[in-house]
Amino acid sequence: CGIVGYVGSRSATEVVVEGLRRLEYRGYDSAGIAVVADGALASTKRAGKLANLEKALHESPLPAASTGLGHTRWATHGAPNDRNAHPHLDESGRVAVIHNGIIENFARLRSELESAGVSFASDTDTEVVAHLLAAEVAAGANLADAMRAVCLRLEGAFTLLAVHAEVPDRVVAARRNSPLVVGLGDGENFLASDVSAFIAHTREALEVGDGQVVEITPDGVTLTDVRGAPVAERRFHVDWDASAAAKDGYDYFMLKEIAEQPKAVADTLLGRIGADGELSLDQMRLSDEELREIDKVVVVACGTAYHAGLVAKYAIEHWTRVPCEVELASEFRYRDPVVGRQTLVIAISQSGETMDTLMALRYAREQGARVLAVCNTNGATIPRESDAVLYTHAGPEVAVASTKAFLTQLIACYLVGLYLGQVRGTKWGDEIGSVVRDLSDLPSKVDQVLETMEPVRSLARELAGATSVLFLGRHVGFPVALEGALKLKELAYMHAEGFAAGELKHGPIALIESGMPVIVVVPSPRGRSVLHDKIVSNIQEIRARGARTIVIAEEGDEAVAPYADHLVRVPECPTLLQPVVATVPLQVFACEMASARGFDVDQPRNLAKSVTVE
Ligand code: G6P
Repeated sequence: CGIVGYVGSRSATEVVVEGLRRLEYRGYDSAGIAVVADGALASTKRAGKLANLEKALHESPLPAASTGLGHTRWATHGAPNDRNAHPHLDESGRVAVIHNGIIENFARLRSELESAGVSFASDTDTEVVAHLLAAEVAAGANLADAMRAVCLRLEGAFTLLAVHAEVPDRVVAARRNSPLVVGLGDGENFLASDVSAFIAHTREALEVGDGQVVEITPDGVTLTDVRGAPVAERRFHVDWDASAAAKDGYDYFMLKEIAEQPKAVADTLLGRIGADGELSLDQMRLSDEELREIDKVVVVACGTAYHAGLVAKYAIEHWTRVPCEVELASEFRYRDPVVGRQTLVIAISQSGETMDTLMALRYAREQGARVLAVCNTNGATIPRESDAVLYTHAGPEVAVASTKAFLTQLIACYLVGLYLGQVRGTKWGDEIGSVVRDLSDLPSKVDQVLETMEPVRSLARELAGATSVLFLGRHVGFPVALEGALKLKELAYMHAEGFAAGELKHGPIALIESGMPVIVVVPSPRGRSVLHDKIVSNIQEIRARGARTIVIAEEGDEAVAPYADHLVRVPECPTLLQPVVATVPLQVFACEMASARGFDVDQPRNLAKSVTVE
């Protein structure tokens, strides 16, 4: 899942391992490296964390070299063991390849190679590429030509990097539907899945477009399409701070990112609300005319981003009266959805690289829909392929479990809803001003929540032995309940489920047994008091059946107090915006629970930060 390539004058092993460390947040289950030294390749790879690879390198160092590549793998084909870790070498040991993605026709290619007498050393789809490249080179092609020829034979999605024993000072790479960027140094150049791998060395970077092949040497970069025709370079400057990628004294990246939420929320709002309260979204490349033509909104996303989409539905439909559907991106294109020129598809993705979401957006565009990306990663594939982009500006999110990206996705969705309402001049137009003021108050409200989290942490420690936790909510509290449950599953490996509180009596109430912790998100008693009163009844129902109730309710809401075994207070907030404050205690709860149960908070088992396979 993480890829690094280096050519220059420094120790390739050091640069590559350091780059892999900075990409750890992407999630992985094995790691490996290869360097080119004195006309030969040397390679080491290990299952498990990077520390295993580093230990192996320490015990048996690779020869000094200044050309190399490295990989952290998240298993797709073949178990996560030493054998299947990348790099993969051809039979002569002269070509080394690393790969992200899936080669869909690998079985056919493998049997073709096997019939020609090639024997395979792993179960991966990647290894076919090493053998195919070696055959091209043996037939007289240079490494870049060989890469182009091989790419033409591959089906699927991939980033590939290759080195050859007899070609020092050169790394060749190709990308199709999988991330890859070039870092431009002085007398050295880098290749990586994303810029965090090389920002310690350079902030100047070059985009590699889809279907392109790139060759780096210490002094140059050559970019072509897959047929060898030169393509125009697109350079960009990285303005991320390298220190943003460090933990800043927190035990976990997740804690740091939870703490950063007030600022992240403020940054999403920054510059988007004028002094007059009018919204301006300058990165919306869709004209007002186009937005007025929209007759349906469809949100596509995965995981936590999907939960942000569920909240968006309530806000968008309420403010704009335009019907809004929310769909898991992985389901969307396979069910023949009704989308066309008047559909606005909103693709929400922190990484901007999630394959399921990317494929949904491509499908939507093929049907003529306009696509707006809500994304946290500048220049990622999803925003690049969209008609309009709203960046969330949350800064790099390293912990696999999403926190600040979620809160800022909520804000971005509110902004889109308000903007659509403003442009279309719907009936609630007068309300915009007050909602905008409420939005501007959110950073300090999130801050207030963060200051009162100690009781939530001790409750999590107390409940660390529980086997199951349920989450209930109504209205926008329902997606918050789903997100709370997802966080607990991801981090604490516990059975956790979120339900719409009204649905409880139709089945899930059978799960309640004596002492079972149930977390309930209670909407504001002001405004929509019917909702509030209904959920108070739901709390009574579960308490009567023995549940241990943990209630998240607004300051001053006294009606719930008698039914709460534990009461967590959040500041007053209009119901639609409440997810921004109500989610925070659930994040803290899950994080503390994972740490109390002794699990890796930042890199939960089996999960990847950015899932670039379908
Ligand atoms: C992975 C991560 C989740 C994330 C989801 C969508 O599964 O583990 O935390 O919510 O991908 O990611 P995206 O980058 O598209 O928001």
